[in-house]
Amino acid sequence: MILSPSMLSADFSMLGKQIKEIEESGAQWLHIDVMDGIFVPNISFGACVYKSIRKVTNLFFDVHLMITKPERYIKDFVNAGADLITIHAEATENPEKAIALIHSCGKKAGIAINPDTSTSKIKPYLNMVDMVLVMSVFPGHGGQKYIESVNPKITEIRKITGPDFLIEVDGGIKKENVKSVIDCGANVIVAGSAIFNDDIKASVKGMFDAV
Ligand code: DX5
Ligand code: ZN
Repeated sequence: MILSPSMLSADFSMLGKQIKEIEESGAQWLHIDVMDGIFVPNISFGACVYKSIRKVTNLFFDVHLMITKPERYIKDFVNAGADLITIHAEATENPEKAIALIHSCGKKAGIAINPDTSTSKIKPYLNMVDMVLVMSVFPGHGGQKYIESVNPKITEIRKITGPDFLIEVDGGIKKENVKSVIDCGANVIVAGSAIFNDDIKASVKGMFDAV
């Protein structure tokens, strides 16, 4: 399992310190949620915020763009230090072009779907991307409840892509349900409130111990 703690639930007054703790905890990635107030109702932070933490960590930066027409900003997010950029299938008229742009910058590309979006929306892009992100809450906020009805989508994508492909699941995952998400076929787990609302290192250990 790759664990990707979501920075959205961090205490931004001590971001550098908390990111160091994530690094020392054994979590491999850092999930970076960018929201524009249009694609989702909330606004989070932009490239300049995570550019400054790029200087203090070698964590793999897993950037989740919840923004309309993401192709407008791919270069900025690459320059800020992203390793993988995930766009939403619902957010652009031309996912193929956005994926190609990310790859042309030498970075990995992912495609995300909301809980009410069918897998048919991303099937045409599966052979172009490095990861699929299945949202298990409606994007916009941390701390929501996991939507169980997305589980068949995870299993379906795993069946199509084979055992090694990256399938990330994001939203409402805690130590109590992480094993069931892995059992559906996920291999990358995002967790925000479950990591940052308590002792970071103990919470990361709890997630790994649970699977
Ligand atoms: C939701 C974000 C998630 C969120 C997860 O819009 O994409 O990454 O931070 O937070 P938890 O784990 O608290 O549901
Ligand atoms: Zn996210």
